[in-house]
Amino acid sequence: MSEIASTREELAKLLDPARREGTLVGFVPTMGALHEGHASLMRVARERVGGGPVVVSIFVNPLQFGAGEDLDRYPRTLDADLEVCEREGVDVVFAPSVDDVYPGGLPQVTVAPGALGDVLEGKTRPGHFGGVLTVVAKLFGLVKPDVAVFGQKDYQQLALIRRMSSDLCLGVDVVGAPTQREPDGLALSSRNRYLSPEQREEATTLSRALYAAQREAAGGVETALQAARAELRRAKGVDLDYLVVTDPALAALPTDPAPGTEARILIAARVGTTRLIDNMSLTIGAPR
Ligand code: PAF
Repeated sequence: MSEIASTREELAKLLDPARREGTLVGFVPTMGALHEGHASLMRVARERVGGGPVVVSIFVNPLQFGAGEDLDRYPRTLDADLEVCEREGVDVVFAPSVDDVYPGGLPQVTVAPGALGDVLEGKTRPGHFGGVLTVVAKLFGLVKPDVAVFGQKDYQQLALIRRMSSDLCLGVDVVGAPTQREPDGLALSSRNRYLSPEQREEATTLSRALYAAQREAAGGVETALQAARAELRRAKGVDLDYLVVTDPALAALPTDPAPGTEARILIAARVGTTRLIDNMSLTIGAPR
């Protein structure tokens, strides 16, 4: 049975036995609207902590929404979310109010993501990653987890949180869990619910482009990108924002990467009014 904490005091009380016994605490921060992708993160957390508590937070963080990004429109489905947590054997669900996370209003001191926060997603969503890192740092402070699990689907977010935990010595092992996909390749996302049936069909272009790049990566970065672009050209109603190949930590690749170099390909596109992102690993210059 999952226990629910709505305040930081309730959370502290529920985690008290684990602190006294010194068991590992696993953590999956979410904004709710939980789907199978989130459930897979909970399972990874469980594998990591064994019999220790797995904590899931459900908090729609106002600090990471920009002007024009509709915070009020973000889906809030607490009852269904609690069922998912229950099914996955989550021990504690932390579902605080905005006042509980930000007593006295938004914080004066925040976490700055640095240059990596200004590119890719950060370019179209200024301030977004500062908001994400600030709330994750706060949640780490409240939950004090040993391990925290994030989806690789939000690859830039994962890279930044990893970097924050290491640069600020937060002592949390940040684990990236594989993206969960529909049978036709579409990455699971809370935003998929905004797609019409036709847009849902067109949205598979993103993963098809990435798979095409993976298949052609033996020929080098440009060949991989051309294969992805060819898929994108075939699609109607997919408005590309970026398609890039980087190193796995999102730094630039060397101009002439050695065969077998590990890389990441990332894509963002608008399908109708819905912005979708996806990414996959690539091995440059080596047959898959
Ligand atoms: O990925 C999300 O759902 C959010 O960005 C996170 C990490 C829970 C912070 O609000």
